[in-house]
Amino acid sequence: MNKPIRKVLEWITIIAFAISISGCKGKTVENKSGRQIPESSVGKNLALTPPMGWNSWNGLGIKVSEESIKEIADSIVSTGLKSAGFTYIVIDDYWQGGRDSVTGQLYADPKRFPSGIKSLADYVHSKGLKFGIYSDAGTQTCGERPGSYGYEIKDAKIFADWGVDYLKYDYCFCTDYASENNDYKMAIDRYKKMGDALKMTGRPIIFSICEWGPRSPWLWGKEVGGQLWRTSYDVYDLWDKPRNDISPIGIQTSMDVDANLERFAGPGGWNDPDMLVVGLKNTGNIKGGGCNETEYRTQMSMWCMLAAPLMIGCDIRKMDNSTKTILMNKDIIAIDQDSQGKQGFRVFRKDGLEAFKKPLSGNRVAISLFNRNSSINKISATYKELQLDSSAKYKIFDVWKHESVLQPDAFFQVELKPHECQVFILSLTEK
Ligand code: GLA
Repeated sequence: MNKPIRKVLEWITIIAFAISISGCKGKTVENKSGRQIPESSVGKNLALTPPMGWNSWNGLGIKVSEESIKEIADSIVSTGLKSAGFTYIVIDDYWQGGRDSVTGQLYADPKRFPSGIKSLADYVHSKGLKFGIYSDAGTQTCGERPGSYGYEIKDAKIFADWGVDYLKYDYCFCTDYASENNDYKMAIDRYKKMGDALKMTGRPIIFSICEWGPRSPWLWGKEVGGQLWRTSYDVYDLWDKPRNDISPIGIQTSMDVDANLERFAGPGGWNDPDMLVVGLKNTGNIKGGGCNETEYRTQMSMWCMLAAPLMIGCDIRKMDNSTKTILMNKDIIAIDQDSQGKQGFRVFRKDGLEAFKKPLSGNRVAISLFNRNSSINKISATYKELQLDSSAKYKIFDVWKHESVLQPDAFFQVELKPHECQVFILSLTEK
C-alpha cells in the first residue's frame, strides 16, 4: 500500500474509534470504599506528572521473585529513592505461573511467589509504595507466559483484587501481519479492551501501554485509558543504534524518537521512551556493553527534559555512589515532575550539538545542551537561537553542579564532553 493512502486509513481508524467511544457515557462502578462512581471518572487524576518507580525487567529479568521484590521495596525506602519520588514497584514479565484450566484464573509462579501476589502487594503497600504488574494484549507475553487476550475483564478484576496500582501491558503475540491497517486497528481495540476492563474494576490503576511505537500510540493512547505509552523498542544498556526498528536500541536512539512528540504529552498522558538503564553497567538482564557515567547522566537529563516516566532498571540493592548521585538528583527530577507537565523540545541543532527547552512553572525554563559527537565540543548559542527572549535577564542554575552560574548576556557557551548533556534552570529576574 502506498504511504499517503496508508496514512489516510490510519487517520480514518482513529477518527472512527474516537466517535465510537464518545457514546459510552453514564455507566457507574463501585470504588474502593463501596461507593458508586461514574466509570469515566476512574483514574482521572492518575499520573498528573510522569510516573516514577522501579521495574524488574532491566535488572532482574526472569530472576524476579517474591524475595527479590521485597528486598527492592526495602531498598527503595532505605536508600532515599522513595523520598526522591520513586514510588511504583513494578514486576515485569515472568511472575506468572499459568492460568487455571477450569476457572481461567491467572496465578503467580508458586515457586518464586509462594505467598502469592496479594500478599506481596500488601508488603509493598505497607512501605508506603505502590505496586505494579505486567501482562500482554496477546495470547502470550513476550516471555511466553499467559497473556490477557480474551481474559481482559477477568485479569483486570484479579489485578484490582490483589491491589495492583499499575499495569504494564505489552504487545507480543498480537500482530496480524496480513494487513498493516488491520494491525493498527487491532492495537487500538485490544488496548481499549483492557483500558475499559481496568476502569470497570473501580480501582485507579495506571495503564502503561507497551506497543513500542510502530502504531503511533501517542495518537490514541489516552483515549484507550492509557497514562503512558512506549514510543520506542527496548532501550538496552548501550548508547546508540542507528534505527528504532526492533529491540534492542540505545539511549540516543530512543531519545530521538521521543524528541518530536511533545505535543502529545501532558498531565495524565506521557510519551514513554522506555526505562532507565542508569547504573546497569552491563550487569543486568538486558546487556549491550554498558554506558559510561556521562552517558547514564545524559539519559537521566534528557528523560527529565522530555517529561518521561522515570522507571529505574538497575538493581538498587547494589547501587554505587555514582548511580545514586544520578538517580537522586532532586533538581533534575524536579524538571521532570514540574506541574506544568510540558515535554521539552529541540530548539537548536548544529554540527552534532543540540539544545532542548522545557517550559517550567513559575516563569522558569529548563535548557539542556547536548553533544552528540565523540569528541569534546564547545556549543555557543544565542538566546534567540534557544527561543528565549533576548532582552530578558535570567538567574541561571546548573542542575548537575547544584549552583548558580554566570553566562555572557543573552548567550550560552558551554564545553561538552562526548555525549554529555548539561542542564540549566533559568529563572526570569528582570527585563
Ligand atoms: C518486551 C517489553 C520489555 C519487557 C519484555 C518482557 O520486550 O518491551 O519492556 O517487558 O517484553 O518480556
